[in-house]
Amino acid sequence: MFVVRRLRSVWVPAYAPLNGRSLGMKIEFVAAEVQPSETTALAVLAFEDGALSATAEALNERMSGALKRAIAAGRFKGAMGQTLDIVAPAGLAAARVVIVGAGKKDAFDDRAAELAAAHAYGAVKTSGSDVLLLALADWGPERAAHAAFGARLAAYRFDKYRTTEKPEKKPSIGVLRIAAADAKAAGKAFKPLSSLADAVVFARDLVSEPANVLYPEEFARRVQKLCELGVEVEVLGEKQLKALGMRLLLGVGQGSERESQLVVLQWKGGKAGDAPIAFVGKGVCFDTGGISIKPADGMEEMITDMGGAAAVTGALYALAARKAKVNAVGILGLVENMPDGAAQRPGDVVKSLSGQTVEVINTDAEGRLVLADALWYCQDRFKPKLMIDLATLTGAIIVSLGKDLAGLFSNNDALAENLLAASKASDDPLWRMPLPAQYEKNIESQVADMKNVGPRYGGSITAALFLQKFVNGLPWAHIDMASTAWKPNSAVPTIPNGATGFGVRLLDRLVADFYEG
Ligand code: BES
Ligand code: MN
Ligand code: ZN
Repeated sequence: MFVVRRLRSVWVPAYAPLNGRSLGMKIEFVAAEVQPSETTALAVLAFEDGALSATAEALNERMSGALKRAIAAGRFKGAMGQTLDIVAPAGLAAARVVIVGAGKKDAFDDRAAELAAAHAYGAVKTSGSDVLLLALADWGPERAAHAAFGARLAAYRFDKYRTTEKPEKKPSIGVLRIAAADAKAAGKAFKPLSSLADAVVFARDLVSEPANVLYPEEFARRVQKLCELGVEVEVLGEKQLKALGMRLLLGVGQGSERESQLVVLQWKGGKAGDAPIAFVGKGVCFDTGGISIKPADGMEEMITDMGGAAAVTGALYALAARKAKVNAVGILGLVENMPDGAAQRPGDVVKSLSGQTVEVINTDAEGRLVLADALWYCQDRFKPKLMIDLATLTGAIIVSLGKDLAGLFSNNDALAENLLAASKASDDPLWRMPLPAQYEKNIESQVADMKNVGPRYGGSITAALFLQKFVNGLPWAHIDMASTAWKPNSAVPTIPNGATGFGVRLLDRLVADFYEG
């Protein structure tokens, strides 16, 4: 079994130079016979009810049964996420052998491969080993490719500002080697997943970046990188937005030193003349609340208030990188919500791009103001077949759904069903919420066509009802991802603590399964 052979590997760049960072784990697919080195962590899979992968069986034999004895001696049952770290036996040139639980053997699908590989990475990431060799030769190329994808997502770190971290706290794994039955085919199957991971990482980096670095103009500058993938990028500044009449969006940004921006992304991979599908993202680069200022405690998390815009950017990245056969538009409403002498006041009445007027009761309900103008602009200019907005819109959605689920609101059942299906397939969980007409009265104003907040109760619903007034009857869905953009304590191994990149995989999957070709 473990005979030294020359290493045959398929190289796939692990980290797109698009991010401007060359850091990251190298990913290689190698032949099953490839030997570990002295410093390698060798990971093999074991399943519930004692079933071992063929590679694990062979290794056990080679170790005179020590692998099974180690399992029998403890509580390892092969459940997904369980790992057992044992010292490599004499004669096997490896630092350690890690047995990775992968759940039920007949339920070992692509997603299970992602999770198992992510757990394997987690088990050895700071072990001191420099290579993780994951034995997956029992399965086909897709499984191996998804394992690489899972480990890649698990290995994400935003550490560019850390200069004094102790070496032993830093990840030691620099190379992930996946032993596959057909290394070449696995490398090929990984290609689209590799660019999807790049897109998720691009979105995570945007969300992680602090607001002194990432303000609207800088966000727009970074998005220019998508041009390299064939995305058309347009940036509208305040002068143009004023001329257009986007006063709701500009009102939010008027208390900031930073100039508001509207970014328009277009990927034309479908038939010329086909109506596009459109994604609209809330891009509040920092949300102090404005004059209705937020309490200091936890305000730093408001660097993530551009998570919707990051998701839309990542989605366009993913679609373009895999040359999806679809016409897609992305609109990013980029502003900074600050209180200063020029800031918008509670009680201000503002005329939207749609012509409807809004009484601004609370300047902290700013996301819906930005989106209202962005949605109207989107439907007016592109006549899309549907619009989906993503926004870290309300704290109330966290109260409603907790931190694992984002809220889905839609005026169209078919679109909602498609999104729920894509959500199940992509690990970006959604839960549908209602849009009850009887709550419309909650945002009636005495002086304008509507006000921007209702009572505290049902706050996510009134926010969605507000947005609905700006979609002009188009099939539309709103995803309130205030709950899922940022995870202080993630329980999902492919999502490290911090920026999740929520929405990128969801939208990519939605297009792939329902709107392509
Ligand atoms: N950006 C916040 C929502 C948010 C809260 C995002 C927690 C992420 C985590 C949004 O702009 C906001 O401030 N919403 C207010 C609305 C209220 C004034 C009606 C809220 O949720 O308190
Ligand atoms: Mn706010
Ligand atoms: Zn906000």
